[in-house]
Amino acid sequence: MIIAVDGPAASGKGTLSKGLARHYGLPHLDTGLLYRAVGWTVREHLEAADFEARAIAAAQNLDAAHLDDVELLISARTGVFASKVAVIGPVREAMRAYQVGFARQPGGAVLDGRDIGTVICPDADVKLFIQADSKARMERRARQLEARGENVDRYALYHQIEERDARDMANPHGGFYQASDAHLLDTTLMGIETALRAAVAIIDEAM
Ligand code: C5P
Repeated sequence: MIIAVDGPAASGKGTLSKGLARHYGLPHLDTGLLYRAVGWTVREHLEAADFEARAIAAAQNLDAAHLDDVELLISARTGVFASKVAVIGPVREAMRAYQVGFARQPGGAVLDGRDIGTVICPDADVKLFIQADSKARMERRARQLEARGENVDRYALYHQIEERDARDMANPHGGFYQASDAHLLDTTLMGIETALRAAVAIIDEAM
């Protein structure tokens, strides 16, 4: 069983996907981490003339099985670096095989990202598209970062999320849209437990 979960920044798709993986006993891949790892690797070369070439090389050499410094990778700044490398077609291509391989392991998997239901696993058994309004997403992300000890400027974070969404949605190589056969789940007014129950109900009904 392959479950594809897509949605914008801080929509809760990561937490939800972890919960689904536990519920169904499946492995989980947060594909945002792959882009974050590449973005982090080239963070000091954002303005360099050879930025794209460096990002492509970093993607081709990424050891996806060892994304160990997760704390660092999930910081807000790294999300911005990630969205800058994610617009480069060959970067996406370089990481595609790993994601497809992960999805195809025996028994299946849960993958979350932006293009899982559209590009990586167009034949997924169930596709969810998670939505939540920008203010709710900003507040959730702010609390998550504060819990990790980061100082949060909510105004700046709101704009950072909006800017990242705009870049992701305009990404010509991104595939970031709701697949025609994806189930829309708006979690604006839901806590994580409620969202998880709603997602499980959709999946059980679809299977
Ligand atoms: O999901 P997360 O916020 O960690 O993703 C970080 C960035 O990586 C996104 O803003 C997006 O630019 C990129 N990304 C992507 N495709 C994916 C997952 C993430 O382009 N499947």
